[in-house]
Amino acid sequence: MNRRLDLPQRLALDDDTDLNLSGNPSFNKVLDARLSRRSILRGGVGTAATALLGGWGVAACGSDDDETPSTTIEKLSFAAVPKGLADAVVIPAGYSASVLYALGDPLDAATPAYRNDGTDTDFDRRAGDHHDGMEYFGLSTDGTRRDANSSERGLLVMNHEALTDNFLHVNGSSARPRPAGESDKEIPAHGVSVVEVRKSNGKFAYVQASAFNRRITPLTPVEIGGPLRGNALMKTKYDPSGNSTRGTINNCGTGQTPWGSFLSGEENWAGYFTRGAADDSARADKSVTALIRYGRAQGAASRHGWETSGADDKYARWNISRSGASADGSDDYRNELNGQGYITEIDPYDATAPVKKRSALGRFAHESASFGKLAAGQPLAVYMGDDSRGEYIYKFVSATAWSAADANPANRIATGDKYLDSGKLYVAKFNADGSGSWVELSLGNPLIAGYAAYAFADPADVVVNARLAADAVGATKMDRPEWCAVHPHTGEIYYALTNNSNRKLEPTASQQALDAANPRSYRDSYGGAAPGSAGNVNGHIIRIAEAGGAGSATTFTWDVYLFGAQSDASTTSVNLSALTADQDFSSPDGLWFSRSTQLCWIQTDDGAYTDTTNCMMLAGVPGKVGDGAKTTLNYTKTDGSTVAIDTYVGKAPVADALRRFLVGPVDCEVTGCAETPDGKTLFVNIQHPGESISAADVANPAAYLSHWPGNAGYGAGGASARPRSATIAISKDDGGLIGS
Ligand code: FEO
Ligand code: CA
Ligand code: CA
Ligand code: CA
Repeated sequence: MNRRLDLPQRLALDDDTDLNLSGNPSFNKVLDARLSRRSILRGGVGTAATALLGGWGVAACGSDDDETPSTTIEKLSFAAVPKGLADAVVIPAGYSASVLYALGDPLDAATPAYRNDGTDTDFDRRAGDHHDGMEYFGLSTDGTRRDANSSERGLLVMNHEALTDNFLHVNGSSARPRPAGESDKEIPAHGVSVVEVRKSNGKFAYVQASAFNRRITPLTPVEIGGPLRGNALMKTKYDPSGNSTRGTINNCGTGQTPWGSFLSGEENWAGYFTRGAADDSARADKSVTALIRYGRAQGAASRHGWETSGADDKYARWNISRSGASADGSDDYRNELNGQGYITEIDPYDATAPVKKRSALGRFAHESASFGKLAAGQPLAVYMGDDSRGEYIYKFVSATAWSAADANPANRIATGDKYLDSGKLYVAKFNADGSGSWVELSLGNPLIAGYAAYAFADPADVVVNARLAADAVGATKMDRPEWCAVHPHTGEIYYALTNNSNRKLEPTASQQALDAANPRSYRDSYGGAAPGSAGNVNGHIIRIAEAGGAGSATTFTWDVYLFGAQSDASTTSVNLSALTADQDFSSPDGLWFSRSTQLCWIQTDDGAYTDTTNCMMLAGVPGKVGDGAKTTLNYTKTDGSTVAIDTYVGKAPVADALRRFLVGPVDCEVTGCAETPDGKTLFVNIQHPGESISAADVANPAAYLSHWPGNAGYGAGGASARPRSATIAISKDDGGLIGS
């Protein structure tokens, strides 16, 4: 069976929302439709039938700072995995992968094994759905305390971004009003997992009965940290003091603090809430402007309709209409949306420690949170992106200077309070000459204090409505900032800009014009059929070098590490990095540096090259900002006039500097990357294989696009299993470093 999407359907595949409208009042609704697009193929976890070529290309590298000594891989020597459409995880010869932890796996001894037939319940005691960003936290051999150097035993902490909801129920999802029993499964299938993993006989498995195992869900009590705590914008019926809220949702990218806690980025949270059709007049205040900027115009429908499941407060909170008589919102959920959209900190080792939202880091569609290189006596810098078309790149600089004594504190969340609750939030401006600047978002900036579109009340209002503040200062609208990652040695900051169908030579008011940092707009082909997608179809990876290498710098230089492209595309207009067939990719999303090898791992979440290949993961050996050259892209407008756009392209990768390492199963996204400190085990998440399924087709396994990982021998169902998001563990058969 082969189902192919038309163009509007493929454009709707991304988990992107489109909200930066520059004064245009109309906007697209949340694009959460996921539709089928590929043929059914069968397989398992396997290796490419290719020989391991070449030498090791490994060089000892003394650490140039306070970081753990490591071994830099300077040349990739594994055999590149070809692009492919198999329903399997394919990795290079000489490597092995095993499934470790999949949707529904029980997190205690009392919870039964996952039947994977839609009858399972109790997702607050099981792995959630849509495994996403992930971090590894070492555990001491006796399992009593943190040991950052342990490669034998640790805690994997991961996000569960969203749902393939039809597979959670026997006959798929029911229509609205949603049965409470279905909502009670779907809500806790979101959030975060903490799960112990342990190596035994050379192979990792998760520990079902570990006392560390737990779930943080959209119902878990969560404290507010930073400027929003106790603010008028945070008062709700749940907590009229404004000091707390419930849960975390649509968690995507992650981060790990220098003090050993986990950071979770809340991404497309807005779409879970509904607003009444007449709520603008019910409110009649500036909150309407903020709600529209964050994707909740009046009449917006919720993603899953949980508010229709009953009068219980746990359902009612998904309707953020003003319904109460109070002036401050303490009798309804009109302010509930202000409780989501943060970097949320969790102590993996201590279930009794509060979970805390770090509001000083801004509220937007968060992806990863990556710390700049640490320097004692200097503030911490945390880099972040806002993933929506035309949104911005941000950084937070702590008010408190870093003290190495805080690397292993007794109280990790109190350490988070110290560094993450006060500081400066900046947004990036990219200039046409390859320079850039960080603009502080504060009421001290007259463009913000005097912004005509929205009257900011106080510093909390600025961070909660960071998008509006960034609009006010004219920040650069980017091609959907996904994850960022910091090179462990150079300290340069890499951002995946996944794609942007709104980047145009001749944009409408709600689209984005070409600029030096987002210089491509072209039309793709798909399956040989015209037309394909348009805009920046394949995405790119931009990188930043801070002035003087300091996280507190307010200026930087930048270039583009890699432009995503098909290898057969023009090297003068599209394939600017001259990617070969072993290197080409589309829609970079997950981005992560190994601290063991300094390899850059690139993961894709794509709908443009999926006529040819499933989503993938590549390893790169990047250079530095400025190692390439200025390039000019020439465009012709419809009136015949020409436009020349200068951009800065990093050095084209040679064959042993960028190579495809993994191709995932059908209809998946490859995301989440973590390693043991010895660099010998790599954990990767396979999100939503076979997600394109209608409720009507749930009863028909022949209609499933994927049966992974059941078809790889994991869990119930075998070759006709419902597909499941899952974590895999990859090792090298000779025990070497991953990527060598
Ligand atoms: Fe959940 Fe933008 O990735
Ligand atoms: Ca996704
Ligand atoms: Ca992502
Ligand atoms: Ca994505």
